[in-house]
Parts: sequence; structure tokens; C-alpha cells
Amino acid sequence: MNSPVMQGLALNTPSHVKNARLVAWVADMAALCQPDHIVWCDGSDEEYARLCQQLVDAGTMKRLNPVKRPNSFLACSDPSDVARVEDRTFICSEKQEDAGPTNNWKAPAEMRATLQPLFEGCMRGRTMYVIPFSMGPLGSPIAHIGVELSDSAYVAVNMKLMTRMGKAVFDVLGTDGEFVPCVHTVGAPLAEGEKDQNAWPCNPTTKYIVHYPETREIWSYGSGYGGNALLGKKCFALRIASTMGKQQGWLAEHMLILGVTNPEGRKYHVAAAFPSACGKTNFAMLIPPKGFEGWKVTTIGDDIAWIKPHADGRLYAINPEAGYFGVAPGTNSLTNPNCMASLDRDVIFTNVALTDDGDVWWEGMSEAPAHAIDWQGKDWTPQIAKETGAKAAHPNARFTVAATNNPALDPAWDDPAGVPIDAFIFGGRRSTTVPLVTEARNWTEGVYMAATMGSETTAAAFGAQGVVRRDPFAMLPFTGYNMSDYFQHWLDLGQKLASQGAKLPGIFCVNWFRKDEAGKFVWPGFGENMRVLKWMIDRLEGRAQQGTEHAFGVSPRYEDIQWNGLEFSAEQYRTVTHIDRAAWAKEMELHGELFTQLAHHLPQELQDTKAQIEKRLAA
Ligand code: OXD
Ligand code: MN
Repeated sequence: MNSPVMQGLALNTPSHVKNARLVAWVADMAALCQPDHIVWCDGSDEEYARLCQQLVDAGTMKRLNPVKRPNSFLACSDPSDVARVEDRTFICSEKQEDAGPTNNWKAPAEMRATLQPLFEGCMRGRTMYVIPFSMGPLGSPIAHIGVELSDSAYVAVNMKLMTRMGKAVFDVLGTDGEFVPCVHTVGAPLAEGEKDQNAWPCNPTTKYIVHYPETREIWSYGSGYGGNALLGKKCFALRIASTMGKQQGWLAEHMLILGVTNPEGRKYHVAAAFPSACGKTNFAMLIPPKGFEGWKVTTIGDDIAWIKPHADGRLYAINPEAGYFGVAPGTNSLTNPNCMASLDRDVIFTNVALTDDGDVWWEGMSEAPAHAIDWQGKDWTPQIAKETGAKAAHPNARFTVAATNNPALDPAWDDPAGVPIDAFIFGGRRSTTVPLVTEARNWTEGVYMAATMGSETTAAAFGAQGVVRRDPFAMLPFTGYNMSDYFQHWLDLGQKLASQGAKLPGIFCVNWFRKDEAGKFVWPGFGENMRVLKWMIDRLEGRAQQGTEHAFGVSPRYEDIQWNGLEFSAEQYRTVTHIDRAAWAKEMELHGELFTQLAHHLPQELQDTKAQIEKRLAA
């Protein structure tokens, strides 16, 4: 393929790139963004090392002590650029009703007119990286391809860890393969000869994270952080993919995927949805506690699942990602030993603290160091923290690491066929009201539970924390279309599979976060969640028939849970499982408010389910 030269800028198209639409799009975007150079990423280790060194030279990253943390780096962002910006995230469908009431919407033509002048010359003085990536195992029938153009080398190296990125993607793409075009700029062009003042270039005042679902495009302006900039993740794998799934009959979900093998050697696969920063990575890497000898949990994914119906009538899931972009604060060898082991080497840390011996530290990792440099580059000591409340690490500080670092990685994590899903779990962070675990009696009841889920907000998104907001399916910030149409899609898929005679996955709702009167968490969490998981597996095997049936499902009695190895009294169990009628009356009112907000296309089945639950609660 010849390589056009535009106004002195060589497109440098490698000879193995044969997709005419891709080449034309890169040329168009280069003409618009006017970078000084274009680099087509090949995904090699040499390229990764070169770009990391370049980021170190530019001051964006620091190389950590190679003895303590081999081949690892610390990046610290601009304080204005630390989390996903939900209020600057837009779904630009042709019709507003297709974005629905939970998304910010602008007409595509209006948004394009806004973005055009912002993108014009936005990469001046910078390099445009062409980053080809596969979401899911290369060539898998469940996978899809994207290409991100970004003026951030930090994005390029993170995409290498987070996705199957590089040359092989062009081969899968061939001459006319489909890809989702994703364009990203930090929104900080440089004048001729100007050098970056800020080691984390971004636009402190203007940010746009824009999705055009009809044309399947992503345009991101002004941020270099996480889901705002690593466009394969929330933008493609959830917002755009959810619209593709709706059209094509599959699901793109904010779910971890784990394998659980019982002592008899039978293996099950569970996909679990939790809002951001509610411990998905911990659950996906769970180590069975004392008393669960012979049980094994393995990780397929920690954040996103793409799930397609198979000819055998079952749902098969892949993890579209190839790495983890996890929340560091609170992670330690007790809460998640597998995760800590994954972070021994080859990691990019962002916004954690730097210790005096060139290692990293964050709140909740271990005993605090006597001195460190905090994520904003300031001196930090436990005394300073006590006096000023300064955090060493930002609460949304992250690690980026390849999945292959995880000692509990499932052997099928990269299987193009995916794994068959036996159960779905939905969980929120609720200090009151919602019991430890409930199984839905049928698919519709399960969809109702997931649709009405609430959770206390966390630092993963900009804004107030600890406020209960409804977060249907943990997808509130990630569904790329009208939420009620999404509920309908779940109901339709269940009905379709059932009509083919398939046994549908079980649906469970959990809450690890209930607190006692003193405001302390009661459920020990982490590895002990295995006890709840075992009850679910027993239910799937038809063994745990007992449980208590109540107004909105079935929950285990104290004696239905295996307790050996843990002191947990019946009274404590009551604290995390008790169904308070007054609290539930209030809860149902909040479900009503949600349904009023989502009235457009709200499935009648969900209204009916609500009425039935209310009747049972009143009985
Ligand atoms: C994430 C999130 O980064 O959900 O995974 O915010
Ligand atoms: Mn997430």
C-alpha cells in the first residue's frame, strides 16, 4: 500500500496494513488533528520498552526500583484528571430517546460541530499513535476489533497491557474487516518549538467523551486518564458494544468472570456485575478460605464480559480485555493476595505514592512508610496525613497489569470459544436494607433485581461519594442506549433461550457491605465470599433446596451456609440478612422513582414484578 504524504507529514502506513477504510480514516484524522508524526504501533515488547523510556524521559513516568518492582513505572496525573468524567460523557444517537434518560445526549450533527474546531490541530507538536487492538482473543467469534488514534504514549503502553494490541490485529482485519474507530487527544496542542509544561498533558477545562452509536465511533478530548482515554474499555467494550449487542442479540456487561471448581471436580462459570470500585477484582481472584479445601477459583476477567448465545443454547462469555486496570487503595495481601502477586513486576501504577526506596505505596497496602512522595509530588508522612488528611495515593489510583501476571488466571481465559455461564451475580454497595444473598426465582425476577440495584458511589467517577444511586446492572454510566430498552433486551434474550429449551443461568443478588449500628462492616468479605459462592453452586447443583423463600426471592438460612473455619454467629448473620419491612417499603418507593424516570419503553413485566413484590411484602 502506498503511503500518502500530507502537507509534509508522512502517513508511514506499514506494508502489512491492507484495510483501505482504516488507511483513509487515519489520513483524514491526521489531516484534522495535524500531529507532527504518526507511529503505527506493532505491539512488540521493544516498542513497549521504547515508549516507556520516552515517558520516563518526558517526566510522565518514573521507573521504579528494578530490584523491588522490575520493569515497573509510576505515572502521576494532573490533579484535574483523576477519574472518569460522567458529566462530560455523551451518547450522540440520532434520537434523544435512544440515548434514554440516564445518558447525556447531544444530536450528532451538533456534537460534531462542537468537536470539529476542538480537534482541528489538537495534536500539533505531538505524535499520533495508531493503536490496533482486539477486544477478546484474536479471531474469536465473540471478539471485535478497534483502532485507537491517540496523541498519548501513556495510552499506547496501557493499551498494550489492557488489550491484544499490535500487528496481528491488522492480519485479522484483512482488507475489509470491521473496526470501531476511536480517536483520542489529550487536548493540549503545542506551538512550534514549545515544550510541555505539564508532564501529564491534558485539557484542564474542556473534556468530551463522545460516542456515536449509529456509526460506532468514539471521540475523546481533553483527558488522559483511565476510561476517558483507554477507549477499548468503557467506551468501546461497554457503551458501543452494548448497542452492538442489542442489535445483534448478545450482551456487553460490566461483569467479572470467574471459574469455580468444587472438590468433586465439577467446574462452573459465574459472571458478576458490581459498580466501580466495589471489589470486582478481589472477587475475580478469590482464594477459598480455610474449610474450603478442594475448591478452586480462577479468573477469566475482572471488569467486562461479552456474552453471546451459542448453538447449544447456552451463553458463552469472553473477557474482551487482556489486563487489569484496578483500584490500588485498599488492595493488600490479605484482601487480595493473587492481585498483590500480579503486581510484583511489569506494572504501570498511576497516582499512587513513591517510597524512598523507589517502590510504591497506597492507603491500605501495608504499614505506612515513614516518608513518601504523594501522588501530587509532595512530601507525605503519617504525621502530615494526620494533620491535613492528605492521601498518599489518590483514592482512584490504579494499576495496569497484563492478565498473564495473575497466578489464578483460568486456563480458558484466552479461549476464543469463551466459557459457558452458569450464573449471574449482581451486587451493590449498600450499608443497609439489601441482604447478603438472594436468588431470583426466575429470569424476570432476576432482571428486576438487577434493574433496581442501588449502590453507594465511589471515587471511580468524579463527584460526591457514598451517596446511594440506582445503578441498574452496574451499567448506569456504561449503557450506550436507553436503559429500559436494555432491560427489554435482557428479558427478550432470556425468553429466546428458554423457548429453545435452554436451562437459563441462575441469577443472584449479593451485598457484602452491610454495616452494624456502630457503622462497621459485618460480613468479613474477600475470601469468605466463597461461602456465599458455594451456596450458589449448591443451588445450581440442585442440592441446597432449603433456603427461605421471601418477598423477592430465596435466601439461605444460617444453617445453609458452610461455616467451618469462620466464627460468624447466627446473630451476625441476622444483621447481614435481615429484611426490614420499613426499609423495604422505602426501597420499593425508590424503585418506583426509578421506573418513573425510565418510563419510556419500561417493560411491563418489570412493573408487574414490582407489584407482586409489594403484595408479598405487605402480606
Ligand atoms: C473501572 C470503572 O475503571 O468501573 O473499571 O470505573
Ligand atoms: Mn469497571
